Amino acid sequence: MKTELSIYKKEAWNKVSELYGDDWLKNGISFICCNEMVKKSIPPNVNGHIKILDNACGPGSLPLNLIEYLSQKENVTFTIDACDHASKMIEKLDRNLCSKSIPNGSIKSHVMDGQNLEFPDETFDYVFSMFGLVFFPSIDKGLQSMNRVLKSGGTIGISTWAYGGFIQSFFEGYRDAVGHEWDGEEIVKLSTEGEVIEAMERNGFTDIKTSTYITPMVDKSVEELYYSYIEAPMFQSILGGVPEDKAMLFEKLVIEKLHLLKQKRQLVNESIIAIGKK
Ligand SMILES: C[S@@+](CC[C@H](N)C(=O)[O-])C[C@H]1O[C@@H](n2cnc3c(N)ncnc32)[C@H](O)[C@@H]1O
Repeated sequence: MKTELSIYKKEAWNKVSELYGDDWLKNGISFICCNEMVKKSIPPNVNGHIKILDNACGPGSLPLNLIEYLSQKENVTFTIDACDHASKMIEKLDRNLCSKSIPNGSIKSHVMDGQNLEFPDETFDYVFSMFGLVFFPSIDKGLQSMNRVLKSGGTIGISTWAYGGFIQSFFEGYRDAVGHEWDGEEIVKLSTEGEVIEAMERNGFTDIKTSTYITPMVDKSVEELYYSYIEAPMFQSILGGVPEDKAMLFEKLVIEKLHLLKQKRQLVNESIIAIGKK
């Protein structure tokens, strides 16, 4: 029987919500990329009332950055709707943000499937999905839903994980432990700039600009990195494909590969940021 990937399970995301501590929300990779996204997508001279959607918001890396950026602007008022299918992510976001007093804006959270957004057509000026859409069972459904709720002329911003160094070590560990390349369902989606552009154009977006963004991994030992990342749904999905009697070997091989990578250069994560228009 085919088992459902962990990346598609709400329970898996609920489970990891507690791993996103305060540290992650200040210095984590997604926080740094969200900062970059906000600066790249919202012009410094923006004004008027703007409506923003964060689809698959997790504990709030993007809303935190949006609030920081927009609350300094005198001629802007804003609303943020933040949604996620995992109720525990939303609880975490509410604890972190919804009680925050924001002088010129407000934020509302929703437990919602990002592929079936429950907002009227053409509601938002900006729609974002940071490292979220890539985990939806259907990328097209997610992008179509975001396209529907975005105003004509509005801006979309998404970020994805590139298939490279750190992530690749887990797939190579799988190959060497199991004896063949990963042949299960696609886990790392939209992992090249070309794929991102193609998917966005296919779903009605234009004028797409992409960039690859390199973030150093936090200063932890390789073993600590392995044991924290292996809890994340993406890596649980890979581990789920390893036969039980090969699990220890898989762990050993991935850790060895991460050590080798670290010897060659600092461990980094590569992500792709894409911004487009409707
Ligand atoms: C890697 S986290 C990213 C969270 C946040 N955007 C960030 O950058 O820190 C992926 C998020 O996508 C959410 N997610 C996955 N599939 C989803 C779906 N079908 N609908 C809504 N949210 C989903 C997960 O619950 C999780 O919070």
